[in-house]
Amino acid sequence: MCGIVGYVGNEAALPVLIEGMRQLEYRGYDSAGVAIAASGGIARVRRAGQLGNLEEALDGAELSGTIGIGHTRWATHGAPDDTNAHPHVDSSGKVAIVHNGIVENFDVLKEELEAEGHAFESETDTEVVAKLVGSIMESTGVSLLEATLATVDRLEGAFGLVLVHADEPETIVAVRQDSPIIVGANGHAGLVASGIPALLPYTRDVIPLENRQVAEIRPGSVRVLDFEGREVDAETVHVEWDLDAAEKSGYEDFMLKEIFEQPEAVRNTMRGRVDKQGHITLDEVTWSRADIEGITKVVVVACGTSYHSGMAAKHAIEHYTRIPVELDLASEFRYRDPVLDEHSLVIGIAQSGETADTLAAVRFAKDMGAMVVAITNVAGSSIARDADAVLFTHAGPEIGVAATKTFLAQLVALNLFALYLARERGVMEADKLSETIDAMRALPDQIEEVLTLQGEVHRAAKRYADARDFIFIGRGVGMAVALEGALKLKEISYIHAEGYAAGELKHGAIALIEGGVPVVAILTGTALYDKMLGNVQEVKARGAETILIAPRNDERARSLANEMFEMPTTKPLLTPILDTIPLQMLAYFVAKERGLSPDKPRNLAKSVTVE
Ligand code: F6R
Repeated sequence: MCGIVGYVGNEAALPVLIEGMRQLEYRGYDSAGVAIAASGGIARVRRAGQLGNLEEALDGAELSGTIGIGHTRWATHGAPDDTNAHPHVDSSGKVAIVHNGIVENFDVLKEELEAEGHAFESETDTEVVAKLVGSIMESTGVSLLEATLATVDRLEGAFGLVLVHADEPETIVAVRQDSPIIVGANGHAGLVASGIPALLPYTRDVIPLENRQVAEIRPGSVRVLDFEGREVDAETVHVEWDLDAAEKSGYEDFMLKEIFEQPEAVRNTMRGRVDKQGHITLDEVTWSRADIEGITKVVVVACGTSYHSGMAAKHAIEHYTRIPVELDLASEFRYRDPVLDEHSLVIGIAQSGETADTLAAVRFAKDMGAMVVAITNVAGSSIARDADAVLFTHAGPEIGVAATKTFLAQLVALNLFALYLARERGVMEADKLSETIDAMRALPDQIEEVLTLQGEVHRAAKRYADARDFIFIGRGVGMAVALEGALKLKEISYIHAEGYAAGELKHGAIALIEGGVPVVAILTGTALYDKMLGNVQEVKARGAETILIAPRNDERARSLANEMFEMPTTKPLLTPILDTIPLQMLAYFVAKERGLSPDKPRNLAKSVTVE
């Protein structure tokens, strides 16, 4: 998520850091900061907002030194302001650290350090790590590397860390646990970054650290150790990519890269919120049990893809909690004179957190006295500030205009929220809850499996790339998938596509079916499987080409399919988290076959700030 850079060598570190941060800024732009170690001290400059703000602040600043670290932030813990910006320092001011990820047990460690007399300036988990390393160095007199090794054992969660110490001006220490860290060296410099682009101007031979590895980076050399301190023979990779390809980690487009980041997006959205015993912790939701028991209805408001995640969430919330749920397009909501009071819970979903219609809906709901929770991917966004509670999807920055990984992350956050409400209201048995959490914990691996369908989906895309119309049908949560599949296809391939409730087809849209029209049908996740198959038969009888999203080894489906993508088994309400993926890939490959740029479809913007 965040961009991280470190340099140690014989040149001034600052320009190298700024250039590297520029290459990685797409990973986060809530704030930027650098720390340079020189003359036995650490000089730090940090600014909220984009890298340009930091560069302005650095104009004329005396920050000379040949070792330093830099960071562009995608906020997780704490508001995106100057104080929470990285790098963070320990209590002596000699250790500086940058971090990508989430340290889940930071609150426990913080309490411990506070009891020892350490004071914290920021709300971040990162400052806790800085203070822990500093405190170990001070009490035991060990080196930065040894203190880091002693610290990582105590951290839970995901962390890519890069550290320097003012008294060790030739050493950078880097750590990887679930967040990418790439290290490298040339004749006179050592480098580290969270992405390959930042290293390319200096070396094409890089070492991507594995989980539970620590690197000691010095001018001209890199040494890799495991968390136990044993030296590891790490593999060096020669990178042929140009800079543009490197930013996309070798993928042709951000959209494809983001589709393939979905296991991580889902894992990160669950991280720290569920445990092996099936408990759910949503720290951000602070309503009392009585408030939650008092909810009489839920209203979900959103636009576009976020509306589709809301549509799937309606099923989950009603099923788990038995609270009635209304679903509204944000642009319609406040103009229909909705009935709301203090017992209504309004869920506003917006990946950008800035969609004008959704913001207006959320503000309207607040004015009406409703409880408002926002689901968003952007910390510090307007919706996060306006709502009473926020559930962040930790999908990382999404650059492609078409929403992909944020959609899956929204579905995860909404399902967790639904389960949380059910538990708080005491309407879900513990074993059913933990069974559902288990199914959610299996999703990242199942998403990896679905991603292996890439070749099959590409082949289907070639076959249907010239179609004039596409129809997508589904029932239950499958209808949300159908609508999302149709939206993805039309927005990036410009083919007319309709998403329909399968049972509604016969009331009009079936007239569109003629020889060769591709119909995508979602067969999983519905108790009405036989009826879905019936609908497939109906369109096939009229000459449609059928593309089926089906359970594995389903012979009945296979006998009706022109193309079939087989899905791993999960709980019915979780199927959209898997079923949407082939449809994202279908839209992507159809767009590519038609020579279009999926990342920047015409007439669209990533954040729609006008009504
Ligand atoms: C489609 C897409 C849009 C957005 C919509 C709402 O791929 O990205 O339909 O979903 O503009 O955006 P957010 O979620 O930022 O409110």
